[in-house]
Amino acid sequence: MTTHPTRIGILTGGGDCPGLNAVLRAVVKEAVFHDIAVVGFEDGFLGLIEDRAKVLTADDVSGILTQGGTILGSSNKANPLRHPVGQREDGSWIYEDLTERCMQNLRRHGIEALVVIGGDGTMSCAKPFADRGINCIGVPKTIDNDLWGSDVTFGFSTAVETATEAIDRVRTTAASHHRVMIVEVMGRNAGWIALHSGIASGADVILIPEVPFILDEIAHVVRLRSKRGKRFSIVVASEGAKPLGGSQIVDRVVENSPDPIRLGGIGRWLSSEIEGRTGVESRYVVLGHIQRGGTPCAVDRVLATQFGDHAMHLLRQGARNRLVVVQQGELTDVDITEAAGRQRLVPLDHPLMAAARSVYTSFGDDPEL
Ligand code: F6P
Repeated sequence: MTTHPTRIGILTGGGDCPGLNAVLRAVVKEAVFHDIAVVGFEDGFLGLIEDRAKVLTADDVSGILTQGGTILGSSNKANPLRHPVGQREDGSWIYEDLTERCMQNLRRHGIEALVVIGGDGTMSCAKPFADRGINCIGVPKTIDNDLWGSDVTFGFSTAVETATEAIDRVRTTAASHHRVMIVEVMGRNAGWIALHSGIASGADVILIPEVPFILDEIAHVVRLRSKRGKRFSIVVASEGAKPLGGSQIVDRVVENSPDPIRLGGIGRWLSSEIEGRTGVESRYVVLGHIQRGGTPCAVDRVLATQFGDHAMHLLRQGARNRLVVVQQGELTDVDITEAAGRQRLVPLDHPLMAAARSVYTSFGDDPEL
């Protein structure tokens, strides 16, 4: 007979994302049904470090399916392995490994298993606990869709819907004013949001980090369109896109964050470069955190509910240290440690790349290559 835990912990780590509450709701409702107590830690791993926790009841998660964000709060800076505990005189930070303190907190709450909802950084943070005997079950979250091991993460579809709607709106201004409009979308080092929203909105140029672009090639596309009487162009640029031989534009470095680099600024740069090369007036918009906010779309509500249900299924079956994933359309699970710190980038031979090229969308690269 398999034994399952009677008391579990749950936290949401990393950047917030539509569908987090839907997972919390699924896990807590199912746990309560099976007499499993759920302790929610606030603000991701920070709540575990600082022992900020509360028991979640079915009432706590009632009515949150459609709410964006996370009722538990999140942090994309907290890492128990390397927690800032003070500053030296020269301003540099002093870090300590607080894993043992977190283990004490888990023991105090009688927690046998931990459901961690997050991206690659969160899965990395879970590893030391799995190594110390806490059963960690991961649920893949991120608008970037870049978690290794899963074909899709919840939050991604909502971000694509939001970006697509925004690009559609920008198109009318581009057409009316005969401009190049550049829309900068999120995604870190992965171009999934740009690729999907660019295809969905019929963008003329899609720039993704996986395909370094050539400015003259983008200018060529804009000029060609003008010659054909299309006096405007839409460029969707992933925040991580970079020119051939160049580097990504870093907006800021967030000290103490497991992934300190925050990208941003490519839209502004492209706007002036493209206008300079083509003479066509250019503007840029940065969609930023709008892509992470708001109510999850139906696809994400369903996916998040399935993920939460599968996480509970794994716990009740006695499975250990698994990450819930979707592979080839099937809900399944893999070893959680495999996903830690790994990113799933757009493969250059991905069918969507070919589909985009077949409708004459440029990736700003040399089409002959
Ligand atoms: O990982 C999600 C994400 O929104 C990325 O697309 C983006 O690069 C980053 O988080 C932004 O982080 P922050 O909220 O710290 O600015």
